[in-house]
Amino acid sequence: MIQVSNLTKRYVGRTAVDQISFEVGQGEVVGFLGPNGAGKTTTIRILTGYLPASSGTASIAGFDVFRDSMEARRRIGYMPENVPLYEDMRVKEYLRFRAQLKGLRGRDVRKNVGEAMDLCGLTEMRSKMIGSLSKGYRQRVGLADALLHKPELLILDEPTNGLDPNQIRRVRELIKQLGLTHTILVSTHILSEVEMTCDRVIILDRGKVRACDTPANLVGRMRTARTISLELQAEAPLAIDKIKTLPGVKKVVKESIDENGWTRLTVRAESGRDVRESIALIAADNAWPLRELHAHKATLEDVFVEITQSEHSS
Ligand SMILES: Nc1ncnc2c1ncn2[C@@H]1O[C@H](COP(=O)(O)OP(=O)(O)O)[C@@H](O)[C@H]1O
Ligand SMILES: [Mg+2]
Repeated sequence: MIQVSNLTKRYVGRTAVDQISFEVGQGEVVGFLGPNGAGKTTTIRILTGYLPASSGTASIAGFDVFRDSMEARRRIGYMPENVPLYEDMRVKEYLRFRAQLKGLRGRDVRKNVGEAMDLCGLTEMRSKMIGSLSKGYRQRVGLADALLHKPELLILDEPTNGLDPNQIRRVRELIKQLGLTHTILVSTHILSEVEMTCDRVIILDRGKVRACDTPANLVGRMRTARTISLELQAEAPLAIDKIKTLPGVKKVVKESIDENGWTRLTVRAESGRDVRESIALIAADNAWPLRELHAHKATLEDVFVEITQSEHSS
């Protein structure tokens, strides 16, 4: 449904998107994940025809977003990062107005607006002034707007940005539900978002695609966990110093100490390196009783941190 090949966007003085390539298949719900400034919005604005690329190509359902921009756009429901809304219009008036702008006429206007409001849980709000709606409902108006011309593909730019946790949950549910009948590309800088709603994740960082896989495979790719919890009986500063010197250990944090001298530590290790064995050995060498040594399973967050910070920290 979406094909992006060697896409590059240069603004004056900086490359925001650098030779990226990815595909989104029909029916997929794909998370477009990356820290602020990664290039998500830039990519999305190119896909939706609002911004020309510097080089490379992008197409929607086989239509080039430039040469066949009308055909490409017809298939896209786009919800921008900050949905511009008319405060002093009622929800249904606004959506009818938007439907007409999108070329709908006659009965289709009423029908499609009704269906979009229904899908987005807006029917009860249809006569409310947009200016009086909460941020969560405004986002739904933006989503309903994107659905008006019944596109096959939804491109949503940070749809939960600025919402409170309850509103986030509702919008996420809505995206999940829309995913049953649409192809979706949804950008976010919030990890839990993609873990819960997406079949696949594209991780973008500083203008480049760093990873592209299912959440489960991304986590599986981290061969060994990087966080280890342990509890031992030792003089804490000495134990921490010695563990710190083990190869592969990046950081040792003291969590707690009880009245019997049991010390809980958290060890952060380099990925691809299991330091549990050397911790057990050093405990034995120093005759420190060890009653817990536990490696935490890698999470998508570990993957994200690893991918997006690897070059800063090295
Ligand atoms: N109109 C613009 N002119 C110059 N630089 C821009 C412009 N828009 C975005 N940028 C820069 O391009 C980079 C990517 O921005 P953006 O695509 O908005 O990232 P994201 O949506 O992932 O936060 C950032 O460094 C940003 O400052
Ligand atoms: Mg953005």
